[in-house]
Amino acid sequence: LRHLLTLDGLPAPVLVRLLERAEALVPHAHGGSGMRAALAGQAFCTLFFEASTRTRSSFQLAAQRLGMDVLNFDASTSSTRKGETALDTLRTIEAMGVHCFVVRHHEDGAVAALAAGAAGQTVLINGGDGRSAHPTQGLLDMLTIRQHKGTDFSRLKVAIVGDVRHSRVARSDLHALRALGCGEIRVCGPANLLPQDDTLRGCTVTDDLDAALDGVDVAMTLRLQRERMEDGLVPSLEAYYRDYGLTGARLARAKPDAIVMHPGPMNRGVEIEAALADGPRSAILRQVANGVAVRMAVMLELLGR
Ligand code: CP
Repeated sequence: LRHLLTLDGLPAPVLVRLLERAEALVPHAHGGSGMRAALAGQAFCTLFFEASTRTRSSFQLAAQRLGMDVLNFDASTSSTRKGETALDTLRTIEAMGVHCFVVRHHEDGAVAALAAGAAGQTVLINGGDGRSAHPTQGLLDMLTIRQHKGTDFSRLKVAIVGDVRHSRVARSDLHALRALGCGEIRVCGPANLLPQDDTLRGCTVTDDLDAALDGVDVAMTLRLQRERMEDGLVPSLEAYYRDYGLTGARLARAKPDAIVMHPGPMNRGVEIEAALADGPRSAILRQVANGVAVRMAVMLELLGR
């Protein structure tokens, strides 16, 4: 791998190698000095043109755990406010000796466009572009499922609920679940919040949440991406919660040991009941925790160690 721009087309053995590597790094992800020599002396930049808490913070920690020098670029206080382009920004920071970046941008394809203009030795990781891809979120979601449900995805039924149309997380999860041979992928949401292209190929699609949750091992719900919706598409939040909100009562249809996932940030009382998000079946904070190990694994893979 030169860059990590998408999980689309990534072969299962590469996905499994990254997940196994991340699992082995879990003990190093939340402390200790065991990996601090791994990438010492290399520099890393979080180049974010869109807001983030989880992705940006966990990349910072991952790079620090690997001994890298970390530069945090904040678009809101940068010379992009004076008209500097994203590519000129990247080249400016490259000129300071930084050759590994995680980039988040609101436009589909923006990270791939930057990769095409980057210096030969520069490595880019997509930290989320538009509605296209969020590959490290896809990986940390798969790691979380493996930790709870084992490595044989063919036995699993996974439901993805909500605003799939605007979700880069859902697209990356769908690529990964298909590549890992997931037994059944169900997608549930209102018709106007589901993609009309081939994103849902091979999935069971329904607008009936109870049917979608029946007997599943994993129930994953998504944030309503209101910032990406055209006028008129935003549903009534009360009606949305009634029809598509994940609650303890509705989860009774899933397997007794089913886990609940959400990539965050959550809108409690819109996509998910607060008590369910905070309850024993919630894997939401495990997803967050796994983000550090996954991002360490990706940087080690791309930087050749
Ligand atoms: N899941 C996710 O990408 O969260 P942030 O937007 O906080 O990074």
